[in-house]
Amino acid sequence: MKPTPQTSLLDWYISHGRHDLPWRTTDDPYHIYVSEIMLQQTQVKTVLERFYFPFLERFPTLIDLVEAELDDVLKMWEGLGYYTRARNLHAAARQCNGNLPETAHELIQLSGIGRSTAHAIAAFAYKEPLPILDANVKRILHRYFALRERNEKKLWEYAYTLFDPLHPFEYNQAMMDVGATICLAKKPLCPLCPFLTACLGKDSPLSYPEPKTIKSKPIRKRSIILYRRENRYALKQRQSRFLHGLWGFVEIEDTDMGTLDCLGHITQHYSHFTLDADVYLSDEPFSDEAYEWFKLSEITPLSLSRADHKAISLLRYNLEKRGESAC
Ligand code: ADE
Repeated sequence: MKPTPQTSLLDWYISHGRHDLPWRTTDDPYHIYVSEIMLQQTQVKTVLERFYFPFLERFPTLIDLVEAELDDVLKMWEGLGYYTRARNLHAAARQCNGNLPETAHELIQLSGIGRSTAHAIAAFAYKEPLPILDANVKRILHRYFALRERNEKKLWEYAYTLFDPLHPFEYNQAMMDVGATICLAKKPLCPLCPFLTACLGKDSPLSYPEPKTIKSKPIRKRSIILYRRENRYALKQRQSRFLHGLWGFVEIEDTDMGTLDCLGHITQHYSHFTLDADVYLSDEPFSDEAYEWFKLSEITPLSLSRADHKAISLLRYNLEKRGESAC
């Protein structure tokens, strides 16, 4: 009997799948939930090597997350980026009072859980027969069905067409693996693909989907000022939507700082802009109620953006060069 695309995929997964990823060998729904949120915008390697285990060690259960201060959750998220994920995780834990719902329908009501993430958690933790539709799966479907147009609603329909409801866990994990290791965006490895015979786009995989019009990212030029008073530095907890909850130094749009002591320059790429800033040290009087004063050693436990960490590195480097104490 001719294999179906679903059986080909399942066979492929058995021999080539990444079976030992820790969120695949656990049946703890909370661990699966954390992994899915971390993996939304971050590569497997980074999550695996630097964030998944320390986070779960610090917050072993959803109840621990309910009881945690947001600042502590942000601290464990520091460096992972897209901090809204951490705030939503914390908010969602409180919304469900530490009892993670067991269906996609209920999961999707929680902060930060969209349709694909709800399906992933439900399929992996509870074996609910639902397909996922993340960026990798979208690319596979575009090619498999030779779809040039990017249309989320239609893609969901195709996702259900190809889905194997008898093996929701294996099917979805396998789709992620095919997307991550074979159906690659720039150099797809079609001869190795379990869908090779059925794929309608195999002769011209790079034609599907149609390329996105690339928007160049705006550059934001700023000045970061490290105000110092008796070896303490002024920082405030950000209230803005962007990087909300992280601590930050004074940052202003003005880039003409006259004779202020320039420590160096930093750049940081964010999803929607690039920050390009000179960093200054100032012993001028500064008073703003929103700011608090910290010794360098007291800044370590706070959660800071990568840009502010770079500013601290510049500060330490310059203090050391000048023979000043950096304590
Ligand atoms: N990305 C999102 N979820 C994943 C999973 N379960 N395994 C590998 N990569 C993923």
